[in-house]
Amino acid sequence: MRLKGAVIVITGASSGIGEAAALAFARKKANLVLGARRVDQLNSVAQQCREKGAPEVTVRRLDVGQRAEARAFVAAAMRDHERIDVLVNNAGLGWMGRLHEMPEEKIEELIATNIRGVITTTQAALPAMIERRRGIVINVASVLGFRAAPYSAVYSATKHAVVGFSHALRGELSGTGVKVCVVYPASTETEFFAETEAPIGPQYPAWWVANAIVRTARFPRRDVMVLPYRFAHLAEPLIGGLLDHAMGEVRRMRSPHLAGGSHQPPPEDS
Ligand SMILES: NC(=O)c1ccc[n+]([C@@H]2O[C@H](COP(=O)([O-])OP(=O)(O)OC[C@H]3O[C@@H](n4cnc5c(N)ncnc54)[C@H](OP(=O)(O)O)[C@@H]3O)[C@@H](O)[C@H]2O)c1
Repeated sequence: MRLKGAVIVITGASSGIGEAAALAFARKKANLVLGARRVDQLNSVAQQCREKGAPEVTVRRLDVGQRAEARAFVAAAMRDHERIDVLVNNAGLGWMGRLHEMPEEKIEELIATNIRGVITTTQAALPAMIERRRGIVINVASVLGFRAAPYSAVYSATKHAVVGFSHALRGELSGTGVKVCVVYPASTETEFFAETEAPIGPQYPAWWVANAIVRTARFPRRDVMVLPYRFAHLAEPLIGGLLDHAMGEVRRMRSPHLAGGSHQPPPEDS
C-alpha cells in the first residue's frame, strides 16, 4: 500500500513499539489516529509525528479492553477520515510469575487488552474495509504467540489467541481485498518490562519492530518475524517439549524467587 496520505490507526501509541510505529509512519507522510490511556504522552507523540511530516494526527483516549471505548475509537477515526487504510492492533501488556499467584484482575486485564481489544477494534473496522475492498489489519503478537514461555502462561495464551484469530480471519477475508497480518516481536526495549522480570537475552530497539510494521503495511504478509526466528517456529513441533523445560530451568536460575518452594525435592519418608 502507498503510505503517503494513507489513514493509519494505531492502538497503544503512547510508548514503545506503538510510539515508534507512529513516528515511522509519520516519516512516510501518513495520516495518524493514535489511541492509548495516557493522553499527555499521546499528545507528545502526536507533536513529534507532525514534526516528522504526518499531515494530520489525531489522538483519542482509549482503553481498548472496554468494548464501547474500542468501538468509539474506530468510529471516530472513520468519522474524521471516512476510511481506515491500516489498523495496527498494538496495545498490550504482560505479566510474569507463577500462574496460581496471578491476581484475578491481572488475568482479566491481559485478556481484555491483548485479545478482546484486538477483536473489538477489528470487528469495528472491518465493515468499511470490506465495502471498500481495501484495508490491512496488522496484529502485534509476540514470539510467545508460537513459543510459549514459562511464567507467562496467560500472556502466552493471549498471544497464541491473537495468532489464531489473525490466521482464521485471513482465510475468512480472502478475496475481499482486506489483508490480515501478524507481526512477532521478540524482546524489545520498551516500558513493557517496567513491571515484569527482565527478559533473558538481549533486547533490540522498538524502531526495529516499527520498521517491520511499516514494511508490512507496504507489502502485507501473513507472518512477519522481527528476528530470524522462522527456524524456531519450524522446530517447535520437534523440540517444543524440550524447550518448555529448558526455558523453565533458565528462568528459575535467573530469577530463583519465581520457583518458590515448588522445585524443592520432596521430603524424605521418615
Ligand atoms: N517489548 C517486548 O519485548 C515485546 C515483545 C513481544 C511483543 N510485544 C508486544 O508489543 C506491543 C507493544 O508493547 P511495548 O513493548 O511497546 O510495551 P509498552 O511500551 O508498555 O507499550 C504498550 C502500549 O500499549 C498501551 N496499552 C496498554 N494497555 C492498554 C489499554 N487497556 N488500552 C489502550 N492502550 C493500552 C500502552 O499505553 P497506555 O498505558 O497509555 O494505555 C502503551 O502505549 C504489546 O502488544 C506487546 O505484547 C512486546
